[in-house]
Amino acid sequence: MNVALGVTGCIAAYKAVEVLRGLQKRGASVRVVMTRHATEFVTPLTFQSISGYPVITDMFAPSDDPEIKHIQLAQSIDLLLVAPATANALAKFANGIADDFLSTLYISTTSPALVAPAMNVEMWAHPATRENVRRLRERGVEFVDPEEGYLACRTVGAGRLAEPERIVSRAFELIGSSKPLTDLRGERVLVTAGPTQEAIDPVRFLSNRSSGKMGYAIAEAALARGAAVTLITGPVSIAPPDGARTILVRSAAEMFKAVSDNLEGSTMVLMTAAVADYRPASALQEKIKKNGDALVLELEQTDDILAAAARKRGSRIVIGFAAETENVIENARKKLNEKRADLIVANDVSAADAGFEVDTNRISLVSSGGVVDLPLMSKREAAEQILDAALRVRTSRPLPNL
Ligand code: PMT
Repeated sequence: MNVALGVTGCIAAYKAVEVLRGLQKRGASVRVVMTRHATEFVTPLTFQSISGYPVITDMFAPSDDPEIKHIQLAQSIDLLLVAPATANALAKFANGIADDFLSTLYISTTSPALVAPAMNVEMWAHPATRENVRRLRERGVEFVDPEEGYLACRTVGAGRLAEPERIVSRAFELIGSSKPLTDLRGERVLVTAGPTQEAIDPVRFLSNRSSGKMGYAIAEAALARGAAVTLITGPVSIAPPDGARTILVRSAAEMFKAVSDNLEGSTMVLMTAAVADYRPASALQEKIKKNGDALVLELEQTDDILAAAARKRGSRIVIGFAAETENVIENARKKLNEKRADLIVANDVSAADAGFEVDTNRISLVSSGGVVDLPLMSKREAAEQILDAALRVRTSRPLPNL
């Protein structure tokens, strides 16, 4: 299936990377067309690297090809998907304005068009936009309507780009063909997620801000790609993905034991959990009472679960994370060597839009082969990229017989 993915200029443009990956994973070949304003938000190089094709940004770019590019593309696609679509793009489509490549492609193609708008709540509610949407729907354009939520303009309401998964599913519904991705079939993936809690006394503990979102996204993505998944998780408030064998733990020692007990049956290990490096040397049996004096807690180091798993790796693929606030790549390289992992996923946890708690992450894949810096993306998309990287390691190491 051939899809043209139109990306227009708004903050949600980065989510189009995830839409692109979702389309590809189900077997689509995707050519990306960006408006000039979209290139202000995400570079064409990002889409080019992922799609494997040059990105079209210019109607009149010189080319050796005598064919008229927009007509050629218009005739070769099964679907035109525009995500995100701005109010401006909708207005152009509704009025037949063809002043750039994307709007010209829209009026040149007879293929179905699917549009996923994203804009400020007032812009989405404006009578001009409502009228444009009505006219486009009347002409057969399909929509994945924006969702309600907190918008980049710091208001709450309808306008947020629909989840990439929803957009991709709708695209395949429209053209009626989808190839499920099963490239992890046969893999038994062990994922650790969430924080650990180290007891100080019966009511207090030392912990950290991990929400479990990154690890759960990896578990979810691995399941969707056909793997059997064991998820070993510290205490979090999100629900584990359906289909994962989930083992609940609290402390680093419990996580160590759960990983040791389940290592044998696994072929890939991804240690996303934020494991405490130190715990109170002795947990008190009774609640500590305050007595006016300063309190000194003696801490002892916990066992390193990742390093222990890597020591027993066999042909297993072992991937760790590095949560850093400075010298991110240098520290990740140190962890790669010290813990002897195949790959370290480095994230700068001091960034507001990456690391702990948020739905997005900006990761670097650090291995002996070099460093791949990825742009800001949803944790689900980051999970897909990490699993792709794990599979690249797999090609050099055959799947063990379990
Ligand atoms: O859960 P979220 O809110 O989505 O946040 C995601 C995240 C920030 C927790 C995640 O992206 C992340 O960075 N996880 C690793 C957190 C961490 O503990 O990093 P570290 O640099 O301290 O540890 C390095 C690696 O060693 C990690 O794979 C860790 O799981 C592992 N480790 C650490 C200590 C220990 N005793 N045993 C370990 O196995």
